[in-house]
Amino acid sequence: MPKVDGIASLEQLKAATMRCRECPIGEFATQSVIGEGPRKAVLMMVGEQPGDKEDIEGHPFVGPAGMLLDRALAQAGIPREQVFVSNAVKHFKFELRGKRRIHKSPTQREAAACHHWLEDEIELVRPKAIVALGATAARSLMGWAVPVMAERGHWLERGDGRQVLVTLHPSALLRVPSEDREETFALFVHDLAKARKLF
Ligand code: URA
Repeated sequence: MPKVDGIASLEQLKAATMRCRECPIGEFATQSVIGEGPRKAVLMMVGEQPGDKEDIEGHPFVGPAGMLLDRALAQAGIPREQVFVSNAVKHFKFELRGKRRIHKSPTQREAAACHHWLEDEIELVRPKAIVALGATAARSLMGWAVPVMAERGHWLERGDGRQVLVTLHPSALLRVPSEDREETFALFVHDLAKARKLF
């Protein structure tokens, strides 16, 4: 398949996304955060956008949502070090409240502007299958507004033939009331376990 933007390596993708100003988010973020993991991973996971810690450190899923994801992958029997983790949007969008940077969801237009970078990444890694973590990722990967609660735990097929497993974003689990947390986490692990067959 032709390279979407003439990007031939993850290093080039990092440099190109660092310069990207196709939407306003990049202007305010510290840096772009692209995906990481084995270059030929069979499984890719796509979240929404880097968070505060990811923006500062320059790596995806290193904050609270990433820790929850690591724990869920371990319980699902999926080797984390063999997974390529990325995001639909490559810059952190936030709102300043005093000194705190509060996560703001990207708009559909912002996610759409970033979509070609995600396709470059898919083309470079060529995973067999992809896990969509939440609605922004699912929409970017599929090209339509996937109803995540109805489709969670199901495999969908992209135009390129790749299978996409839909589930919640781990940040959503961090927001559930403590009494529901255990059950919500178990359901998340159950969804992720459907990707174990790839290993
Ligand atoms: N949430 C995401 O979607 N991605 C990250 O990298 C961190 C938090």
